[in-house]
Amino acid sequence: MQDSGIKIVKTIDDMHQEATRLGLAGKTIALVPTMGFLHEGHLALIREAQRHGDTVVVSIFVNPTQFGPTEDFKAYPRDFNRDLYLARSAKADVIFAPSHETMYDNDHETFVQLKGLPDFLCGPSRPGHFRGVTTVVTKLFNIVKPQVALFGEKDYQQLAIIRRLTRDLSFDIRIIGVPTVREPDGLAMSSRNAYLSQEERLSALSLYQGLQIAKRMVTEGEITEANRIKEEVSRYITSHPYTKIDYVALCNPSTLKNINRVKEETLIALAVWVGTTRLIDNIVLKPR
Ligand code: PAF
Repeated sequence: MQDSGIKIVKTIDDMHQEATRLGLAGKTIALVPTMGFLHEGHLALIREAQRHGDTVVVSIFVNPTQFGPTEDFKAYPRDFNRDLYLARSAKADVIFAPSHETMYDNDHETFVQLKGLPDFLCGPSRPGHFRGVTTVVTKLFNIVKPQVALFGEKDYQQLAIIRRLTRDLSFDIRIIGVPTVREPDGLAMSSRNAYLSQEERLSALSLYQGLQIAKRMVTEGEITEANRIKEEVSRYITSHPYTKIDYVALCNPSTLKNINRVKEETLIALAVWVGTTRLIDNIVLKPR
């Protein structure tokens, strides 16, 4: 289906055909995988994708296998017409929007799972989440056949896992990480921000502000002790109403293993409940 300049593809067969047609025409494909409810962060991925491929394919699929039984799969915000409008305005070429039945047969039984990286950061609180992500991303890679795929750095652990998946399974795909897009007040863009009440949104600002405290402790205060930094950041965040820390972690940016001292580039990542919404954010700390 063609919708004034953007093609909408709904089935795996049609996407295979479209990818083959593009390949025969010598066009490279850049894939932007999303779960829809697009925001400026996704649009930044789409715009960056144009620099790396001739045709930009945006997949829109709320992937059930990456949600736990008590998580927000049903409530996850969806608005296909709005997504279409935004993707078109960012000049995406193809929307791949399969149904659940299209992506997962009733007797689907194959999953892709990494052994180590999913155990850190979000892993313990979201068992099975990354298995769902790596399974659907593998399927999308096989269906869309991109040369390049782009993911946001806000989901730092997801990006690290997808880089490892791509290397380990020898996908001939270049993975590009795109910096987190923030609201003017610092809040990282996320489809889940739509869940926040006005008061909760104010408290949610403490995530980025907490990360900035950590940055100042390291660069200005020359504090390197991870526990001290974690304590200070947690104390700051929980001084705001509605907040509950899931984790604040300082870790090696490649292995995601916890570190005790900030001696080289270190990822500080956090997950915080604000009311009933779980938000994540991170920055890389660079000691002087
Ligand atoms: O980051 C997301 O939106 C999802 O985890 C992804 C990569 C589209 C897989 O469903």
